[in-house]
Amino acid sequence: MSGDIRYYTRDVIDHFRKPRNQRSIEAPDAEGRAINRACSDVVRVQIKVEDGKLKDVAFKAQGCVACVAAASMTTILAMGRPLDDAELSREEVAEALGGLPESKMDCSVIAPNALAYAVQQYLSSAAS
Ligand code: FES
Repeated sequence: MSGDIRYYTRDVIDHFRKPRNQRSIEAPDAEGRAINRACSDVVRVQIKVEDGKLKDVAFKAQGCVACVAAASMTTILAMGRPLDDAELSREEVAEALGGLPESKMDCSVIAPNALAYAVQQYLSSAAS
């Protein structure tokens, strides 16, 4: 059931079929990767920072429908946010997609985790 596209909202299917910001950033300021240990699917998030805000956010994903849609939505929700408010929860991402099946909620946290790692990497490199 969890892989059946009929169980997803229209927004999930739209973001899966036409992912926003699925690309690489030339010379990113930082990047983070996160993995779903249950299936080994992986998301990479790259960021560009300007004036303490996320000026650009892009992703590459190898994952299921929910994973790709959540990564796409993560970039949209994160774009323009200040670094100290860049953390996203899986609930926030799932809600913005109109909901996800409970069995796919873990898939929606991979991109927010990758984003958090990218922000951490940026902050630690800026501090050194
Ligand atoms: Fe692997 Fe969804 S099944 S991320």
